[in-house]
Amino acid sequence: MSPRAKITVHTLHEMKRRGEKIVVLTAYDFPTARLEDEAGVDVILVGDSVGNVVLGYENTLPVTVDEMVHHLKAVLRARPRALVVGDLPFMSYQAAPEDAVRSAGRLVKEGGAEAVKVEGARRVEASVRAIVAAAIPVMGHVGLTPQSVHQFGGYRVQGRDVSDAERVVDDAKFLEQCGCFSLVVEGVPWQLAQRITDAVRIPTIGIGAGPHCDGQVLVVNDLLGIDPRFTPRFVKRYAEMGEAMARAFAAYAADVKSGKFPDIDHSYSSD
Ligand code: KIV
Repeated sequence: MSPRAKITVHTLHEMKRRGEKIVVLTAYDFPTARLEDEAGVDVILVGDSVGNVVLGYENTLPVTVDEMVHHLKAVLRARPRALVVGDLPFMSYQAAPEDAVRSAGRLVKEGGAEAVKVEGARRVEASVRAIVAAAIPVMGHVGLTPQSVHQFGGYRVQGRDVSDAERVVDDAKFLEQCGCFSLVVEGVPWQLAQRITDAVRIPTIGIGAGPHCDGQVLVVNDLLGIDPRFTPRFVKRYAEMGEAMARAFAAYAADVKSGKFPDIDHSYSSD
């Protein structure tokens, strides 16, 4: 059986043309990337969500380019067939296009990313155009952009009223004109996501955006139920890993305390 072809940005365009859904999932480490790739995930996003779901930060804002490179390298060691996209973290691309090209260049050269993702539209135009001109594919991100959490005053659904909906559609079309190969559409009403998907030729990847995008992304920890304390409406939990892990850790601790583990069955013996 011949190995399946590597997924590229062109594959994603073909998938949109054929009407085939694009499966996107975040990963931040080697074993998760390997399992996702074996399961047929098309795009692995090394998201700056690593900040809140893995590194324990309050939000994505403290994440650095060094941290992104570290996690990208781990994911790339799985040599995934999936396209690997790395998030440009907050303040690594906003101030000047030169910063943006250098940061994106580091994610590609040091981390091995095959594309980068940026949040925002008109205010990051120069950065997006400069990265595209440096031959690095850019995924845009519109709607609820988590790096703007303080400006939004929280993680609020965007585009609920007519003028805000027009702004989000305009952002999406604008990013397509700037050369983005794809768009994450996050936290908007499903009707708006459908409108955006029809309005642009590049694939849209929804999260909290309903069923009509060209693809879907979730944060892997949410899908696995690793932290079940709060599950947003748009997340479907496919496992209860948090509960399973807590049970396993408690059972291990009890066994070690009581002397039940390690036993002779789990020990080496001399000849
Ligand atoms: O950082 C991330 O995981 C993301 C997705 C939620 C789209 O940007």
